[in-house]
Amino acid sequence: MLEQALWIGCKEDMGDVCPQFCRKFQVEREVKAAQLEITAVGVYEACLNGKRVGEFILAPGCTAYKERLQCQTYQLEGVRMGENILTVTVGKGWHRGRISEKDTEVNGMPCALIAQLTLEYVDGSRETIVTDESWSVGESPIRFSDIYDGEVYDAGFSGGEWEPVKIEALSRDRLIAQEGEEIREQERIRPVRLFTSPKGERIVDFGQNFAGYLELSVNAPAGTRIVISHGEILDSQGNFYTENYRTAKAVLTYICKEGQQTYKPHFTFFGFRYIRLDEFPMEVDLDCFRGIAIYSSMERTGHIQCSHAGLNRFFENVLWSQRANFIDIPTDCPQRDERMGWLGDAQVFAKTACYNYDSEKFFEKWLRDVRCEQLENGAVPDIVPNFWKTPKASTAWGDAITVIPWQIYQMYGNTRVLEENFEAMKRWVDYITKDSLEPYLWTSGQGAKKLWEKHYGDWLALDAPYGSYRGATDPDFIASAFYAHSTLLLVKAGKVLGKDVSSYETLYENIVKTFRERFGEYSTQTQHVLALQFHLTQDRQKTADALAQMIRENKNRLKTGFVGTPYLLYALSENGYVQSAYDLLLQEEYPSWLYEVNHGATTIWEHWDGIRDDGVLWSSDMNSYNHYAYGSVMDWVYTVAAGIRTDEDAPGFERAVIAPMPDRRLKWLEVSVKTRHGEICSKWVCEEEKIRYEITTPVPAAIIIEGKEYQVEPGSYIF
Ligand code: BGC
Repeated sequence: MLEQALWIGCKEDMGDVCPQFCRKFQVEREVKAAQLEITAVGVYEACLNGKRVGEFILAPGCTAYKERLQCQTYQLEGVRMGENILTVTVGKGWHRGRISEKDTEVNGMPCALIAQLTLEYVDGSRETIVTDESWSVGESPIRFSDIYDGEVYDAGFSGGEWEPVKIEALSRDRLIAQEGEEIREQERIRPVRLFTSPKGERIVDFGQNFAGYLELSVNAPAGTRIVISHGEILDSQGNFYTENYRTAKAVLTYICKEGQQTYKPHFTFFGFRYIRLDEFPMEVDLDCFRGIAIYSSMERTGHIQCSHAGLNRFFENVLWSQRANFIDIPTDCPQRDERMGWLGDAQVFAKTACYNYDSEKFFEKWLRDVRCEQLENGAVPDIVPNFWKTPKASTAWGDAITVIPWQIYQMYGNTRVLEENFEAMKRWVDYITKDSLEPYLWTSGQGAKKLWEKHYGDWLALDAPYGSYRGATDPDFIASAFYAHSTLLLVKAGKVLGKDVSSYETLYENIVKTFRERFGEYSTQTQHVLALQFHLTQDRQKTADALAQMIRENKNRLKTGFVGTPYLLYALSENGYVQSAYDLLLQEEYPSWLYEVNHGATTIWEHWDGIRDDGVLWSSDMNSYNHYAYGSVMDWVYTVAAGIRTDEDAPGFERAVIAPMPDRRLKWLEVSVKTRHGEICSKWVCEEEKIRYEITTPVPAAIIIEGKEYQVEPGSYIF
């Protein structure tokens, strides 16, 4: 790609200042079409004659940069007769910002730009302008920009000297065409309130936690300084709170030019609901501010509405946490000094994500990054891109490489994703086989401490002592259960692709057999859940009965963490305990999904007890209020409560199974899912005498109502 263009950079590093590259060109004949191919080491924003090119925010996006750097192609409008000017400002972004500083190889690369402009004239001739010595570079008004720390913009900056560029000796080998969805500006959010905190801080509340930035509109004299901090929540006294951002400064500084002006940041984003006006020496009016949510541009496919206002708010919260954490890669959180592509989080949330939004392209692209970061021994690191250079592979995190391709295949009928990932899936399973100290299990056998260092376990589960991050479930148990799960998914994928997977079938049988011998007794909720969901228990009913009893004895409260929670409701409803599943879903007391809603959450919290009943916050050390993992319960609502599933043997909803499971505590539930073959709707209404079901399917389906199965053709049905 971009074969004729050269990488250009700055003769002298500009430090914090974002350089602006510039090329003037003359047009003397009528232009039919103009195309710009472009990418940068960092993030860029291109402008033609002062007008932004395209809508991609933080282009070229986030990839495993060492091997993959996306190039974008834009059809340009606005080329005019006479002189034109193309400018490209380059910020540090993920590639050179603080976020990747532990990956010195990636982070240490110089700021650089590569581009090719092709002009196609009406007379049929063509001209190309490429990045080379003919470009110049100067300082931009962006004096500082970093994804974690924010931006400093001097609107009064009148431009410095234009200097010749430096040709950078960087390779073009890692350039690839754009694969993912573009990150774009999405919702615009009006603030709801301006108030003064007990400490005297002026705070603006947007009423919604989201990821993006604000647009500022002010009328001010030149030189006025505006400084704004971002925060997700208020502390128990109602003061502004940013400790949970850890070292991420998340501050915006804007130096005004004269008069009416509008500004929004260029190369950073924040996870926030509140802003604090640290310096704002003028009248404040809510109209000075608009929130702008940014995320990967995916089509919304799933909708859920029901008679319970709290649950509806909860579903909204899940959607908002997905939006905030689908900024080109699936991240844990959008606010603190992390925002990493954690595999465990993505793995547990992938199914919900695919129901909410068309996430096929998003995940396919990221899975290519995952494969790129897979270690030689087959280990799949915990985060991708592996900016922390972690050499570690944890159960339930690395398993994203088997779980997500299978999910994408099921949801979209995409066999390419299985083909592309099959080798990587196999290498992951082989890695576990080699890594374990005991055949057919994944045990580390190195003593408890080491074991925990290896695996995250049932991350943030509540059956551990208060303050601990790791639940009580034995990590050897979890690791061996996921070993079985991943091997089974590998076998299934192999069969779809027509491969000989007989040795893995045998391996799977041996894992199940050995697991049963080794782990006969279950004590935690998560152990019961995994044993049921991964078909490891020998006596399903006994295990399900015991789980339901544990939940009942615990006053219908869960104790599960990242590993157990996504499957918890399935483990109950699929084994005769639909009501217990609803008991948990509808629980309002701590710990529960609705507890968060009742405490004002507008996104999903990282910890069940992010804010305790007495107002005390979980330690600032690791406490995000925008972490989608526990939002994964939403796929249970789509697939069990509303009962909308693909037939596993006709994936991608070529055939559907629609088996709603209502509960009278909800008066009604209405769910729709846009599939590749049309929209499926499932609604139930609890009437006095009976429950009425209204189902629309665009594909042949098995509709299962209160145990009775009907084979139907596309159409609308009432039961
Ligand atoms: C992240 C998690 C992640 C975990 C791994 C945290 O810091 O925010 O969501 O999965 O580390 O243990």
